[in-house]
Amino acid sequence: MNKVMLAKNTYLLGKMDDREVPFHRLILAKGTTYNAYLLKTEKPTVIDTVDLEFGREFVEYLSELIDPKEIQYIVINHTEPDHSGGLAALAGRAPNATIVCTEIAVNELKEMYKLHSRSFLVVKDGDTLDIGGKTLKFKETPYLHTEETMITYCIEDKILFPCDIFSTHVATNAFFADEADFDIIEDFIGYYNAIIHPHRRYVRTVINALQELDVQMIAPSHGYILREDIQKYIDLYATMSADTINDKKVTIVYTTIRNSTKKVADNLKKIFEENNIQTSVFNADKSDKATILESIKEADAVFIGSSTKYADMIGNLEDVLKDLIKMDLEGKIGAAFGSYGWSGEAIEVIQDYLNQTNLDVQSTSHVIKTTGMTHVEFPVRVRFTPKDEQLKKIEHSATYVADLLLSAI
Ligand code: FEO
Repeated sequence: MNKVMLAKNTYLLGKMDDREVPFHRLILAKGTTYNAYLLKTEKPTVIDTVDLEFGREFVEYLSELIDPKEIQYIVINHTEPDHSGGLAALAGRAPNATIVCTEIAVNELKEMYKLHSRSFLVVKDGDTLDIGGKTLKFKETPYLHTEETMITYCIEDKILFPCDIFSTHVATNAFFADEADFDIIEDFIGYYNAIIHPHRRYVRTVINALQELDVQMIAPSHGYILREDIQKYIDLYATMSADTINDKKVTIVYTTIRNSTKKVADNLKKIFEENNIQTSVFNADKSDKATILESIKEADAVFIGSSTKYADMIGNLEDVLKDLIKMDLEGKIGAAFGSYGWSGEAIEVIQDYLNQTNLDVQSTSHVIKTTGMTHVEFPVRVRFTPKDEQLKKIEHSATYVADLLLSAI
C-alpha cells in the first residue's frame, strides 16, 4: 500500500496490484492500482476503498493514519468490488461511519456486504455534504459505467474523485501522471476504449458538469492522479466520445397483426431520427421486396420484426429473411424485434434467421459481456402494445445501436 498527501489532510491510499489482473474479459498486462482517499477533517471521510482481495490490508493501512472508529463517512462512488471491496472490512472497524452513495447503490451494497443494519446517506445530483472543514459535492453519473455510479468533488481542495472515469490501468508507484517516466496517454486512451467508450453518451454529462467546477486535480480510482494540463485529459474524453460525421442509415422491416409491432418499428424510427440517423421503415406485406432489399443493402443497421401468430412470423417476412441469408451484409448491424401476446416465438425465429447471415447480430448476452449494460435487450421483445417501461426498453436498444453507428472509434 502507498500513501501520499494530495492536499492538506487529503490522502491517497493506493494499493498497487502488479499481477496480470483479469478484468472485464481483459488481462491488464500492466496491472492496476485501486486508489482510495482519506479526508482527515473534523468528520473524517473515506472516498472509495480497494479491491475485495485487499480489504483487510487496506483497513490496517488506513489505521496508521486514523483510528477507523473516528471515521464519519464512507463515500462509495461505484459499487463494483474493485472499489467497494474493502467496505465490509472497513464498516466493521468503523461502526460510526455513515455510507454515502446513490439510491440505487444502497441495496447493492447492503446485499453485497451484508450491511442491512448500517446507516446510509443517499445523495442526489448537486447535493453537498459538510465534512467539517471541507465540503463534498456529488454528481450522479448513471451508466458511467454502471447504473449506480456517481462522482465526488471536494470544493475546498478543488479535487475531483471520479472513480473509474479518467483512470488508467497501470500498476505504478509514480502517483502523478506528470511523474511517470513515460507518456501515459496511450494507457489513458486504452482504458477509455475498454471501459468508458461503450457508455460514451454519458461522458458528455460529466464533461458538461466539469464546466461548472474549478477542478485543479483529478484523483481517479485506478492509476495516475492528474494535476497538470488537466484540460488535455478532459478534451480527450470529449473528442473520443463525440459522434462521427453522420451519414448512417437504418432500415426497419416488419409485419404486424394489430399494429403493435408497427408501433415498435415507429418508436425505433423515432429514436434513430432523434439521433439524426436516416431511417426507412417497410411493412413487408405492403412494400415491394426488391425495394426493401435495396434499402437493406444501403443500410448500416437492419431491424427485422414480426408479430407472433401460432408460434411463428406472419406475412411475407420470411421471404425477405430467406433472401437476407444469401446477401453479403458484412459490417452491418442486425437486430430482431416484435410485439407478442404469449411467448413471442416469431422474434426468436427472426433471430435464428439473422444468425445465419453475416450481419453483426445484437444479443442481450453480447451486450452484457462487452459493456456490462443490463438495461439494453436484444432481441427487442414487447408484450402487447408498447407503453411506459416497454417504450423505455425500445429507446435503450435503439440508442445503443445509434451509439454504435455514431461512435468515432
Ligand atoms: Fe474499476 Fe467499474 O470498476
